[in-house]
Amino acid sequence: MTSQQPLLSVRQLCVDYITESGDVRAVNSVSFDIMPGEVFGLAGESGCGKSTVAFSVARLHKPPAYISGGEILFKGENILHFDDERLRSYRWRQASVVFQSAMNALNPVLRMEEQFCDVLLAHNPGLTRYEAIKRAQELLEIVDIHPSRLKDYPHQFSGGMRQRLVIAIAMALNPELLIMDEPTTALDVVVQREILQKVYALKEKFNFSILFITHDLSLMVEFCDRIGIMYAGELVEVAPSKSILTAPLHPYTRGLGNSFPPLHGPKTVLEGIPGTPLNLLEVPVGCRFQARCAKVHSRCRQEYTRLAEIRPGQQTACHLYEVAEQQPDLPIYLDKAAGC
Ligand SMILES: Nc1ncnc2c1ncn2[C@@H]1O[C@H](COP(=O)(O)OP(=O)(O)OP(=O)(O)O)[C@@H](O)[C@H]1O
Ligand SMILES: [Mg+2]
Repeated sequence: MTSQQPLLSVRQLCVDYITESGDVRAVNSVSFDIMPGEVFGLAGESGCGKSTVAFSVARLHKPPAYISGGEILFKGENILHFDDERLRSYRWRQASVVFQSAMNALNPVLRMEEQFCDVLLAHNPGLTRYEAIKRAQELLEIVDIHPSRLKDYPHQFSGGMRQRLVIAIAMALNPELLIMDEPTTALDVVVQREILQKVYALKEKFNFSILFITHDLSLMVEFCDRIGIMYAGELVEVAPSKSILTAPLHPYTRGLGNSFPPLHGPKTVLEGIPGTPLNLLEVPVGCRFQARCAKVHSRCRQEYTRLAEIRPGQQTACHLYEVAEQQPDLPIYLDKAAGC
């Protein structure tokens, strides 16, 4: 995996919103890679910038949002330089999206057959209608819906089925990256898990990559290979999923882990993270998490924090780990060194 080139490489991405009170930097210098076939999750409190990142990666951001810095490389090509035509093929053939409001992505007055054919014929000029319907039938089968249901309208399907239909449409042109922003939040937990299991099985079969966003950290840990934790527009930790729960480094990640019930084992008292999310119009000097951090010290109020690799494959942006970072040859007793 390490010798492979990333499929997606987000480099120092900055996204601002133009507001009446001035420009708000909603995403600040965010960098991460997604490898071919990898499931990468983004987690963090409401308003931390996850959807802004997802919209930017799909190049679906619209005013008042604008990308104020950085680059988004898809197989080495910067998608921010794509013209309209290149963008159209990127959006369906390379990166496809499923958002929370997926139910609204279906047109209520068109039978599903028309909706599949619209996508397939628009992007495959040589395809006949007969071939498009055949392909639509195959797509329905892979999400476990009987092909005869192509004749039905969206309202004739349950919520879970509609979500699977949206996933099937998103997969119509065999994308290499599926972007899923809270794709199942409106569904009950059993249906959520079933749908994600289906998506995972499809990923195994077709080897696409996934950028996955959900508020459900246990679901995220279960489905992702690696997770990036965002706080107030910045990535504060990137680690293999298991390490996010079992060996988190950043105090914020630790707080997030403590606010979720464990999947297995005895019941524990859940602790939230004290304080409220940062107002992006009043960003302090130094670390953005300083006002809520139990481990805050003077440097946190003076110096910006940057992501650095602290353990193999695990990066965090936190001054607690500066000793380990600056003297990489020293044996790292992180918990002791950091006093955590
Ligand atoms: N249209 C807009 N105008 C101004 N600010 C916006 C706009 N849309 C989003 N923002 C701000 O950008 C920041 C990031 O929002 P975003 O929707 O990306 O967060 P999120 O992590 O996806 O949150 P959630 O978990 O609630 O979906 C927030 O502070 C939000 O207030
Ligand atoms: Mg969101």
